[in-house]
Amino acid sequence: MADFNSDFWHWYIAVATVISILACVWLLRWMTSGFEKGEEVESTGHVWDGDLSELNNPLPRWWLGLFYITLAFGGFYLLLYPGLGKFSGILNWTSVGAYEEEVAQMEAEVGPLFARYQQTEVLDLIKDRDALKVGERLYLNYCSTCHGSDARGARGYPNLRDRDWIWGGDPQSIKATLTNGRIAAMPTWEAALGGEQGVDEVTQYVLSLSGRASIEQLAAKGKAKYDIFCVACHGPEGKGNPALGAPNLSDDIWLYGGSITRIAESIARGRAGQMPAQLERLGEAKVHLLTAYVYSLSQQK
Ligand code: HEC
Ligand code: HEC
Repeated sequence: MADFNSDFWHWYIAVATVISILACVWLLRWMTSGFEKGEEVESTGHVWDGDLSELNNPLPRWWLGLFYITLAFGGFYLLLYPGLGKFSGILNWTSVGAYEEEVAQMEAEVGPLFARYQQTEVLDLIKDRDALKVGERLYLNYCSTCHGSDARGARGYPNLRDRDWIWGGDPQSIKATLTNGRIAAMPTWEAALGGEQGVDEVTQYVLSLSGRASIEQLAAKGKAKYDIFCVACHGPEGKGNPALGAPNLSDDIWLYGGSITRIAESIARGRAGQMPAQLERLGEAKVHLLTAYVYSLSQQK
């Protein structure tokens, strides 16, 4: 529907359009009048190269015919479809209506398919190649902006292809992650640890948890602090806690980077990763299928 904020513009456009079309008809008639059959063709008086003179022939019939057809087409079009100001055309066609019709048609086509997928257990779905293909397409549409088109993630966005899970990798946990989203809360520790020195010590200890080279003296002091401030979430051996989204610190897989600087930054400033909830956005059937797709990724060798 045309959105004119005053009738003036509606009439301005409608009248200007009709006048232009009529003017074209008039112009064509004018250009073709005044020629008698069999009459000697006049010269325009322009002569080139001594004997090449321009004649004033009538316009060719086929060309005129095409022009009239074009004008008739334009007239019919404006009668049927919106185009003349706010006149909506006798077919009442709108782009919104056409879009809604297409969506409804699509829903009717894929609805039963998704309903069937929704009834199927995740462990069975991952054996269904067609289901996984649909899942992959959903993934590329809705998830790849954050987790990457290969699902290997990026800094701050977890890799979904490995077997390392922050929030749990069984189908129920993945489904819970997708349905409600996840909010990770790693507080800032710089003040509690007594500034940079304290952060360095704990960083050295965190390095040692995954068996990396560390400065022993600092790591020993760091362990004392770790046991006070960090065990509650990351556990005594740094294995993490999926219920809190506290990552495993002993596997040398890092969400925010594993260099000394990055680890110290995670500890000093804290982190707050958020996975947005998908249920309202995608509905149950798509969440179910995506759960199967994500689960299948980690089951590949
Ligand atoms: C309240 C629970 C909680 C406490 C206490 C806590 N953390 Fe965390 N930590 C988390 C969570 C949750 C994350 C994940 C943050 C995210 O995903 O954005 C995290 C992330 C981290 C990371 C980044 C891991 C990665 O893969 O990049 C490091 C390093 C870390 N914590 C170290 C520590 C240290 C050292 C302490 C103690 C000084 C500590 N945490 C205390 C909850 C906690
Ligand atoms: C706006 C960015 C964004 C989008 C879009 C997004 N995610 Fe996430 N997702 C994240 C972040 C950030 C985390 C990590 C949260 C944290 O720090 O623990 C995450 C975590 C996850 C996890 C948990 C990983 C683990 O190791 O436990 C899964 C599974 C997941 N996302 C799947 C998906 C799927 C499937 C989609 C598409 C429907 C999706 N995500 C869309 C940002 C996003």
